[in-house]
Amino acid sequence: MCGIVGYIGKRDVAPLLLEGLQRLEYRGYDSAGIVVTSPKAAGLKMVKAKGRVRDLEARVPKRFAGTTGIAHTRWATHGAPSDVNAHPHLDPENKVAVVHNGIVDNAAELRAKLEAEGVVFASETDTEVITHLIARSQADSLEEKVREALKHIEGTYGIAVMHADFNDRIVVARNGSPVVLGIGEKEMFVASDVAALVTHTRQVVTLDDGEMATLKADDFRTYTTSGASTNATPETVEWEAASYDMGGHDTYMHKEISEQPDAVDRVLRGRIDDRFSTVHLGGLNLDAREARSIRRIKILGCGTSYHAGLIGASLIEGMARIPADAEPASEFRYRNPVVDPDTLYIAVSQSGETYDVLAAVQELKRKGARVLGVVNVVGSAIAREADGGVYVHAGPEVCVVSTKCFTNTVVAFALLALHLGRIRDLSVTDGKRIIEGLRKLPGQIEEILKSEDEIEKLAAEYAGAQSMMFIGRVRGYPVALEASLKLKEISYIHAEAYPASELKHGPLALIEPALPTVAIVPDDDLLEKNRAALEEIKARSGRILAVAHQPQEKADHTIVVPKNEDELDPILMGIPLQLFAYHTALAMGRDIDKPRNLAKSVTVE
Ligand code: F6R
Repeated sequence: MCGIVGYIGKRDVAPLLLEGLQRLEYRGYDSAGIVVTSPKAAGLKMVKAKGRVRDLEARVPKRFAGTTGIAHTRWATHGAPSDVNAHPHLDPENKVAVVHNGIVDNAAELRAKLEAEGVVFASETDTEVITHLIARSQADSLEEKVREALKHIEGTYGIAVMHADFNDRIVVARNGSPVVLGIGEKEMFVASDVAALVTHTRQVVTLDDGEMATLKADDFRTYTTSGASTNATPETVEWEAASYDMGGHDTYMHKEISEQPDAVDRVLRGRIDDRFSTVHLGGLNLDAREARSIRRIKILGCGTSYHAGLIGASLIEGMARIPADAEPASEFRYRNPVVDPDTLYIAVSQSGETYDVLAAVQELKRKGARVLGVVNVVGSAIAREADGGVYVHAGPEVCVVSTKCFTNTVVAFALLALHLGRIRDLSVTDGKRIIEGLRKLPGQIEEILKSEDEIEKLAAEYAGAQSMMFIGRVRGYPVALEASLKLKEISYIHAEAYPASELKHGPLALIEPALPTVAIVPDDDLLEKNRAALEEIKARSGRILAVAHQPQEKADHTIVVPKNEDELDPILMGIPLQLFAYHTALAMGRDIDKPRNLAKSVTVE
């Protein structure tokens, strides 16, 4: 969702900020804006545009020089996408400029109060109240003005503020929306996402909630909203600028699907312990005695991460014999759940910033629960909030829809399940068997990726469908859920997923030649049951595309995938269906990396 980028130094700031905004485009947005100044300039210069960053760029005048600036990509919440509603927001005297990610919950109330005092609003946004509050503060310093304004704000924010009377600095603050400082040589950067920083510096400071910072060209200072110094020190980010490039692929989604053998190799690297047929997970912060005392595991995530959590729960239950289930974090936090001290909670999130997951974690922590994170982005809010966890090491995922992070998250769950299993009752023999299976995964994924041409042909055949059904049983069901989500997100074909065992309890009524079914049919103890479901569909003249370990007689087409251990099969069976969704959407001419109405990181409710 919304993105922030800012710079203070000696370079011409507008091109730098526009490039930064382009790197944030993947998060999803509907308008953009930029404001610049320089130590010698008389005021602030601003340009905004509804639409893409290239529309903004086209509007930037030739004379737009400056060495300090902030810029923003907006995802509309309060007020429609438009030039005026785009950020930055300036006060009537053009002195204060604010860019903001998050939502001001009490915006209506503050707006009414300010209007009663004579303030005229230019936009419909919640952000503009912050600008006016800062502009009206009588405090002597910009830091104090911002601090005073924030005392009135309820809600979430990541903000960057410039002031014409204090043009040697940018002041930033964070509460629930990420703010990362990039530390350069006599230049400083700020962004809501390291993606906008890594071409310039890999030295970063991630602000905590309740933290602020002042950036000057050759110096930065961090402190709390009450003014106490926090002395944050920079850390080095591991992701390189090249990881954000398309690398010769036509889309990020294709690149990220193709990266899966390497990504899986990374999540396994350095973690396998052959001597004890287990794995080491350094960041878990859970000793063997504590691990043995867990009575239940509850996994929370949203969308694709929730689906990864469903597979994770079945891996944990199967290998560690601990009752485990997964639930959408967005539902969990609104049903006043019973928080049990013997339950281990696991929050799953690629971005580590998804608001619903973060809010669930905070609520659990408040009630004294132990929460682990299974997260991709190192140092993200959920990773920091959790008591420990497992990083999934998929590398940056730029495409709005998740592919490699899903696969790596499931592998991370397999590692956690093996670890817990070997502390409890999983035998050495079974531990060895799972480890051998895990080691085979990167090569088997390579093999699946080689069948892309065949999958592309199948996708062309099914691309005309109005609707598709996805079915799977037990381990295959979350694979069906995820494959149907992938298809609907990028092709906009209606797709629904059902447990194969539930067909005759309702959805069988839908089966007819125009509604194709994608069936997950692993060679495991449920093979005959799955085949029976195919018979039922065939008897009603339904078309079937099976993903299986051997050609299925009742299916019109079968994508054959290599067999692994039963527990690990779901990891492989999802991969051809990522390619299937991709090629279906491509055949339909969709904007694959930026599907309509969706954002990469959902930092609001
Ligand atoms: C779908 C997709 C979303 C995300 C969901 C949670 O392809 O990517 O469903 O999985 O928005 O995001 P994270 O994992 O960042 O918490």
